[in-house]
This record gives sequence, structure tokens and C-alpha cells, in this order.
Amino acid sequence: MANGIILLADDDAAIRMVLNQALTRTGYEVRPTGNISTMWNWVSRGEGDLLITDVAMPDGNAFDVLPRIKKLRPDLPIIVMSAQNTFMTAIRASEVGAYEYLPKPFDLGELTSAVARALADARNAGREPPQRPVETETMPLVGRSPAMQDVYRVLARLMQSDLTVMITGESGTGKELVAKALHQFGKRQNGPFVAINMAAIPRELIEAELFGHEKGAFTGANARTSGRFEEAEGGTLFLDEIGDMPMEAQTRLLRVIQEGEYTMVGGRAAIKTNVRIVAATHRDLTQLIRQGLFREDLYYRLNVVPLRLPPLRERLDDLGDLIAHFLARTETENEAQKTISPEAIREMQAHSWPGNVRELENLIRRLAALYSDDVISAAIIDHELNSTGTGSHGSGQGRTRGADTSIAGAVNSAVGAEIQASEPHLPPAGLYQRLMDEFELPLLTMTLDLCGGNQIKAAEVLGLNRNTVRKKIRHHGIEIVKRSRGGV
Ligand SMILES: Nc1ncnc2c1ncn2[C@@H]1O[C@H](COP(=O)(O)OP(=O)(O)OP(=O)(O)O)[C@@H](O)[C@H]1O
Ligand SMILES: [Mg+2]
Repeated sequence: MANGIILLADDDAAIRMVLNQALTRTGYEVRPTGNISTMWNWVSRGEGDLLITDVAMPDGNAFDVLPRIKKLRPDLPIIVMSAQNTFMTAIRASEVGAYEYLPKPFDLGELTSAVARALADARNAGREPPQRPVETETMPLVGRSPAMQDVYRVLARLMQSDLTVMITGESGTGKELVAKALHQFGKRQNGPFVAINMAAIPRELIEAELFGHEKGAFTGANARTSGRFEEAEGGTLFLDEIGDMPMEAQTRLLRVIQEGEYTMVGGRAAIKTNVRIVAATHRDLTQLIRQGLFREDLYYRLNVVPLRLPPLRERLDDLGDLIAHFLARTETENEAQKTISPEAIREMQAHSWPGNVRELENLIRRLAALYSDDVISAAIIDHELNSTGTGSHGSGQGRTRGADTSIAGAVNSAVGAEIQASEPHLPPAGLYQRLMDEFELPLLTMTLDLCGGNQIKAAEVLGLNRNTVRKKIRHHGIEIVKRSRGGV
């Protein structure tokens, strides 16, 4: 086999130069093929030790031949570059077993280091075969901004793995969507995807929900009931809002992850489990660890691959794509084909989007339902973003680009999330208490932390009766960490 790198790229001059420099004295040379048919000829003759390919080529799409190449020469590492930069490009690259996927523009240093790694690893061939034929599916994740490229890159690497992933990001940034995409395009796609939201289940029932319970395990446990671990066997278990998991359940979960088996509530027999865990939270877990509300050891077990989803205000370039995506969806509901004016998009770029993509999605739906105009104008956007509340509040104050840290903003997105989650029905009863719980927990823990765990002092600061504070501490299962602190 010739010692040559086959290079296939439209704009290959710069890349060729940089690679040739990097490969001086290695015995490798760079050979441009210029189009798909030449590439195929060379590769099928057994030439080349590494293939670097663009996706869109003058004579076609490289993804049309890559599966054939992978079949013919499974050990030939392939590096895919692309200017298309969509989620599906990253996924397809991972499906054809690409060694690396580089969305353009990339740093040439990144390419040379990927090449060096690929050549070094070339002997460890026998990577996983593609899981399924390439399909043209509707894209689950929209956005081509640099911030989303980083996300796609991590996702593409994770697709063929079983690693535990911790997705963080503000409310409405797409954490659940990403968790589903990880499952849907990963190697467990034929298994079940089971989601459990720690914030939506009464704390005392979480363990039974996760692990199931035996008949008679507690009052009302009339029959043996399977838990989410059992349901997710062979698939993915999505632990949503993991930051809201009570301590005892955390301890139990940690043990399950360590030992690969669990027992049902009220049961004795150890049950083996085979699930991929994906966790998500909008909270700062390191802060919860400091407050004694989250186990550090569990955090490290879950945070094997951290994946941070950027807030919408960090990827305003994606507004256009996202709006088009959501408008296209509303079109099927009402006939009118709506568009949006460039000024209106600019108006939207000045908004801070505390509720992120969910807020945008709700806004587009509302616009489609409320306005009969074919073109959504800047005036409409201005009116919608500055009068009724989708997170923007007051007159213009919410339009700064910084994070919206106001309570009203948080309440807006929390209520929005509830509405979204229960659609087309109304949210389940108890909305007030659920929100109050969410509000109270950080308020109490932070005040207690501030007062070194002194409940009397905390009650004073809060302006509440001591007994009330005690009751609330019990209700939330807050663990008090006593600590002396200056002046307390
Ligand atoms: N990149 C994206 N492309 C298209 N739709 C998106 C994207 N990100 C989020 N969405 C949509 O926005 C809505 C909110 O996403 P999702 O529920 O996944 O957010 P989340 O981070 O889990 O929010 P929360 O913390 O409030 O639960 C969903 O309807 C989802 O389909
Ligand atoms: Mg969510």
C-alpha cells in the first residue's frame, strides 16, 4: 500500500500546504484527487493510508461513496470536513465511521493533529461498523452557529459510545432534545428511551419510580411495580433535572452505577442492569455540592462527558434557522405560509431570550396564531416582546443581552416549560406548589449556607417564624451543614 494521504477538497491549496509541512520527513505525501470518482478509483485500488474528504464535491456528495469505501477498506481512517455544518452532517460522518469530523472553518492545527492521531491509530482498526444506512431524516437539532458546532462535534464522537453524559444548560436550551438525539442516533437506538424528571415527582417516590417496588413495600404498594431502570433495560435512561434528586436516592443511584445492579424498594434480590445514563440539569451542580445538596462522587460518575448547551443569546446567528424551522412547523397547522422580515429578526436579536429556544418556539406559535399578516414585521415583534410576557418584562429592561436573572423571567420560563411539557393538555394540578418549591429550595439553602447552618439566624434573615423554617427544611429534605462563620 502506498504511503500517501489522499486528500479530497475543493479549497485544498492551504490545507495541502499545511499538511505537507506537518508531514515533512514522515514518509507521507499529500495527493489531491479533486473529485469523487478519482478518489474512488484510488481508494478501490488500495492506495492511501488516510482519506480526508469534503462532503460537497463538484461531482457529487461524498456520503454517497463513503459507506462503500468503509465496506471495502474498513481500516482506512477517514476525516470528514464540511461547510454544511448541520447536525445531520456530523451524524452521517459518525455513521460512516469517520475517524474525525471537522466542521468548517476549522483551525488547520486541528486538522494536522487529527491526521497525526489517525495515522498513529491506523493499526488499531476494526472500528464499529455503521449502525444503519444513511437516511434523510428531518433534522432534530437546528442551528449552525459556532456554539452549536461544538455541540455537534461532541455528539458525533459520542454516538458510537456508551459513555455517561451530563447535559447542562439553561431552561429551554434543548437538553431533552439532545438526550433524545443521543439515543436515536446512537448504538442503543433499537432499545427503549426512558425519561424521568426528578423535579416532577414527589421526593419520597423517586426511589420507587427509579427502581420499582415490591408488593407491600410501603402503604399503597398493592402490587409489584417495575421501575424506570427496568423499563430502560438495553436502552437509555434520561435522568432529567438530576440536581433535584434527593440525597438518599443519590446514594442509591451511585451504588447502582458502581455495581451495575440494584434492588427494588422493599426487595432483596440484586437485579443486573444494562442502561446508558444521560443526565441533565439547569442548575450549577458544583454549587449544590458546596451546599451539601449533591454528592460529589455521584457528580464525577455522571459527568464522564460534560456537554454544555449554549443559551440562545450566545448563538443569535441561529435565530434565522430556528425561526424558519418553527414557522415551517406551524404551517402544517394553519395554511398560511408566513415569513419574517429581516428587521424583525434584528429586533429579535436585541432580545435576551431568558427562556431560550422554548421561548422562541412559543413566540413563533403565538405569532402564527394571532397575526394574519403574511410577513411578520419588526413592529409585531417589538409589540410581542415588550408587552405580553415571554420572558421580556418591564419596558425595555429585559432587552439587554446579558442573562435574564430576574425572578419574573425565571417564572415565565418555568411556567412556559410546564405548559410545553403537558401540551395539548393543561399542566397537572399543583402548579403553584411546584413553582413555590422550586423557588423556596435555593432561597432556603442559600440563606442557611449564609448563616452557617444556623436556623434561628436564617429565620431572622428570611423574616419567617423559626418553626416555619424548620418545617420547610424538612419538606425539602435539606441537609444542614453546621459551620461557624464570622459574625454568626
Ligand atoms: N437546537 C434546537 N433546534 C430545534 N429545536 C430546539 C433546539 N433546541 C431546543 N429546541 C426546542 O425547544 C424546546 C425546548 O427544548 P428542551 O425541552 O429540550 O429544553 P430543556 O433544555 O430540556 O429545557 P428545560 O430545562 O426547561 O427542561 C423543545 O420544543 C425543543 O424541541
Ligand atoms: Mg428539559
